[in-house]
Amino acid sequence: MALETIDLTPRIASQVRIAKRDLLAGSHAGEIRDLLVARGAIVIRDLFLDDEELRTVARSLGDLRVGTARRGSDGKVLAEGDGGVLKVSLDPKVNPDYARFLFGNQLWHMDGTYLETIPPFATMLTPFALSKEGGDTQFANTYAAFEDLPRPMQRRLETLTVRHSLPAALFPAKRDCTAEEFAVWASYPTQVHPLVWQHRSGRKSLVLSTACARILELDATASHDLLLELMAHATQEQYVYSHKWRMGDLAIWDNTGTMHRVLPFEEGSAREMHRCTLNGEEPIAAVRDVEVVA
Ligand code: OGA
Ligand code: MN
Repeated sequence: MALETIDLTPRIASQVRIAKRDLLAGSHAGEIRDLLVARGAIVIRDLFLDDEELRTVARSLGDLRVGTARRGSDGKVLAEGDGGVLKVSLDPKVNPDYARFLFGNQLWHMDGTYLETIPPFATMLTPFALSKEGGDTQFANTYAAFEDLPRPMQRRLETLTVRHSLPAALFPAKRDCTAEEFAVWASYPTQVHPLVWQHRSGRKSLVLSTACARILELDATASHDLLLELMAHATQEQYVYSHKWRMGDLAIWDNTGTMHRVLPFEEGSAREMHRCTLNGEEPIAAVRDVEVVA
């Protein structure tokens, strides 16, 4: 039987209705994956998954990431959580080594672009504690944002490459950082990716994130201005879905064709999301037949 789905906005996000036992059995996994790529983000309500169930759903949809860890210059490890379940919380007691980076989630980003040649395919979140205020998660469709650009602009962007870095992602979210904090961020590797990704499917998306540090082919001013212009374009209302969380929800996003961010919530909040990450399945590839701009 086909899945029951509702579009949450015209350009991004669908809600799926599926019984918990069917989701756990993986019987609709292929359809859910296709819908995820077609719609950028999927929401399923009233599931109340525990960690093991979250892992089961993750494994039905892709290659659950377990145990990748990177050590920064401070010796602390950026680890992927317990058997692939990461606790997303700003409380250092909940997640001692990761919490100090998670404030960066408040700015538009894709997961993992600064660390990885092949960034995650998808990320899944389910709440264990909600914030009292705010804390909605927003998703922006970077396929749609690219598709709507005028063709000459698209052609220009298709020739560009961008360095992604952790300092670029974190500094705008914490401009009053200390020199020591900045040095830790800067101790992580960086990656260069094409600005436009032509996926194996042939479709093209913008590879955009606050982690974009510099467009390598442009001078500093032109790079800065173009990155700001693209970010403003790609996060316009028509490309964005805002998810207001309820306990029991599961949200899954296609990390290869969307950006996301969390809206501000109260200081000292107990907000705690459990996250599974699905490993990437294809490298970020430049457009195959770039037209030479005269
Ligand atoms: C993440 C993330 C947003 C949120 O876990 O990668 O960006 O709403 N989370 O917690
Ligand atoms: Mn994220």
